[in-house]
Amino acid sequence: MLTLGIETTCDETAVAIVRGTKEILSNKIASQATVHSSFGGVIPELASRMHTEQIIPLLDEALKEANSKLEDIDLISVAYGPGLLGALMVGLQCAKTLAMTLNKPLMGINHIEAHLYAVLMSHEEEITFPSIGVVLSGGHTTLLYMRSFGDFQLIGQTVDDALGEAFDKVAKMMQLPYPGGPEIEKRAALGDPTVYPIKAGQIKNRPFDFSFSGTKTSVLYNLFGPKGSISKVTLTEKEINDMAASFQAAVIRDVIKKATLAAKEFNCQNLLFGGGVTNNQALRDAFEKTDLNLYWPKRELTLDNGAMIAGLAAWRHKNGFKPDGLRLKPVTRIPFTS
Ligand code: KG4
Ligand code: ZN
Repeated sequence: MLTLGIETTCDETAVAIVRGTKEILSNKIASQATVHSSFGGVIPELASRMHTEQIIPLLDEALKEANSKLEDIDLISVAYGPGLLGALMVGLQCAKTLAMTLNKPLMGINHIEAHLYAVLMSHEEEITFPSIGVVLSGGHTTLLYMRSFGDFQLIGQTVDDALGEAFDKVAKMMQLPYPGGPEIEKRAALGDPTVYPIKAGQIKNRPFDFSFSGTKTSVLYNLFGPKGSISKVTLTEKEINDMAASFQAAVIRDVIKKATLAAKEFNCQNLLFGGGVTNNQALRDAFEKTDLNLYWPKRELTLDNGAMIAGLAAWRHKNGFKPDGLRLKPVTRIPFTS
């Protein structure tokens, strides 16, 4: 069985073809990062326009690489949310048109769940449940109790910025390019994490929730003073490196603290990770020091991609979930029920 997966939730246009539930035949991604880079963050209107331009050429490339024709596809899938409304609509429209003209079933996929399915696609061995899911991306910072795959309970999430977003904004303050995560990681490797007293936020009586907005403010004040203006100060290389190291160490400590507490409270030995921030090697290395079983996605499946969408759709299809049909709608925020 061949499944086509379309992903347009944010600033990556992605189309992939997966055979069965795991075998990736093609996984094409057109990142818009260089376009958004000059603005220091994603501009939604620009993202929608670029998805419109990219999606059909990418579909052609994905088919070519998979040595397949549209008629060979058995199931069409698309991320229906969470994400930017205009961006989601491009993917949905493309998927619906294909499903209608080819007369194939259409399956809508939750993007966050797909980030965790990327872990299952990355490992040959069976992963046992219950497990804790840790999604760290540009749009989401979420801890989930996974009774089994597909049966999730929300444990905690960010009350303000997502972790990747905090990396991006801190990078922007220091005039580093977008996306900021990889830049901060590079700089952090050259800096001293003990120079600046940076801390992640804690929410009273909600030990599993995250807050990075105050963290950003303390980065700002430490670099430019409480009344300082970013544009008036030129930071030295040492200041940038030390702040990158201090910020990165603080947020890694925070994620480890909350994820290990969740594992303890919910009596789970396995942590499953998803999302772009899991590219961060310092984060991976720090988790390796815990005694938990860690399951990371393959590098090519950490950032937004179509393979995780197609894979999850094929998995759902195999497990008896019904297709959605042409009435499928984009959803910008999807609450996980507990
Ligand atoms: O999962 P993703 O592609 O997008 C969303 O679903 O939101 O993640 C993108 C995010 C960006 O914020 C980017 O800065 C961050 O992942 N990221 C990193 C690293 N590589 C990407 N953050 C920290 N360290 C990295 N090496
Ligand atoms: Zn994502």
